[in-house]
Amino acid sequence: MEFVGNHILSVDQFDRQDVERIFAVADQMEPYALRRRITRVLEGAIMSNMFFEPSTRTRVSFGSAFNLLGGEVRETTEVKASALAKGESLYDTARVLSGYSDVIVMRHPEAGSVAEFAHASRVPVINGGDGPNEHPSQALLDLYTMRQEMNGRDRNLDRLSIALIGDLKYGRAVHSLCKLLGLYENIRLHFVSPPELEIPADIADDLVHGGHEVRTFHNLEEGIHDVDILYVTRTQEERFPSQDEADRYRGLFRLNESIYTEHCEPNTVIMHPLPRDSRSQAQELDDDLNQNPNLAIFKQTDNGVLVRMALFALVLDVVDEVDNHSQPVTWFTAKRHQLS
Ligand code: NCD
Repeated sequence: MEFVGNHILSVDQFDRQDVERIFAVADQMEPYALRRRITRVLEGAIMSNMFFEPSTRTRVSFGSAFNLLGGEVRETTEVKASALAKGESLYDTARVLSGYSDVIVMRHPEAGSVAEFAHASRVPVINGGDGPNEHPSQALLDLYTMRQEMNGRDRNLDRLSIALIGDLKYGRAVHSLCKLLGLYENIRLHFVSPPELEIPADIADDLVHGGHEVRTFHNLEEGIHDVDILYVTRTQEERFPSQDEADRYRGLFRLNESIYTEHCEPNTVIMHPLPRDSRSQAQELDDDLNQNPNLAIFKQTDNGVLVRMALFALVLDVVDEVDNHSQPVTWFTAKRHQLS
C-alpha cells in the first residue's frame, strides 16, 4: 500500500511486503525508543489521541511514539468530555479535529466508527481499536514480537503454529492478528475457546482458503499441545449483551505454570495483548508465569512503541529524515541505568 497520507484502518490494507516494510522501520526506531538517540523529525506536528474506550498501553504508547519523534500530543479520553456527548456527529468531530492536527489516532466502541470518522477527516487517521472489529497496530506489534521470538529460535514466521485462546468472538486483536498471519506460509492455528465464543467464521474460512490449517478446540489442555506460541486473551466483558452472560465465561480457561509445564513443548512462547484480568475469578494468564523465560507480554508492550513510531513515520513521510534530525543522548541514558 501507499502509506504516505493514508489512513490505517484495517490490516486488510497490508500485503506481506507492507508488513515487512513496517517492521524494517520499527527496527530503525529502536535507538529512539530506548532514548539512546533523540530525533526532532516531527517537531511542530500535532497528533490528536482520541480514546473513547478504556486504554492504557495503546493510548500511552501511541502518545509516546509521537513524542519520541519530536511531535506534540493532544488527548481526549472520554465521550463525556467531548462534544460527541452533546450529540455531535463523527463527521463534524472529524472535520473539526483534522483542522487542529496532522494525524489522529482514534479508539471507539462501535465497529466501523473509525472508518466513518476517517472518511470525513482531512488528515490520516489510525485505528486504535473499533469495537469488536479490528486493532491493526496491536496485531502488527504482536506479529513483530512473534518474529523476534522466532528469530531467537532460528525460525521465521512461515510454518508457525499458534494457539489463540479465550474470547475469539469479540477479541479485535485476535481478528486483526489472524488476518496478518494469513499473509505468511503454512500457518497452523488452534482456535481454543468456549463454543459460543469461537472465531468469526469468515476469518477462519479465509485462513483455510489461504492454505492454512485451522483446528478448533473447546478445551484448553487439548488446544495448547504442539504449538510454537500461545496467545491468550481476556474475555471482552464489555462487549457482551449483559454482565450475566459475560460472567458465564469468566475463569473458564486459565493458563498457569503447571498446565504450561504439563502440556506445552519447552520454549513455547506465551503472549497476551494485555490487559490480563488478574481478578481471582478470571486469571486467564496466571501471575505464577511471571518468571517464565518464554513470557513475552512485556516485550509486546515495549514493541508497541517501535511499531507505532513506524506507522507515524510512514504515514507522515519522514522515514528518511528521522536519522538526519537526530543526536545521541548520553546523559539521559546514564540516568536511566541508575533507575533500573
Ligand atoms: C486489547 C484491546 O483493546 O482490544 N487491548 C489492547 O489494546 N492492548 C485487548 C483487550 O482489551 O483485551
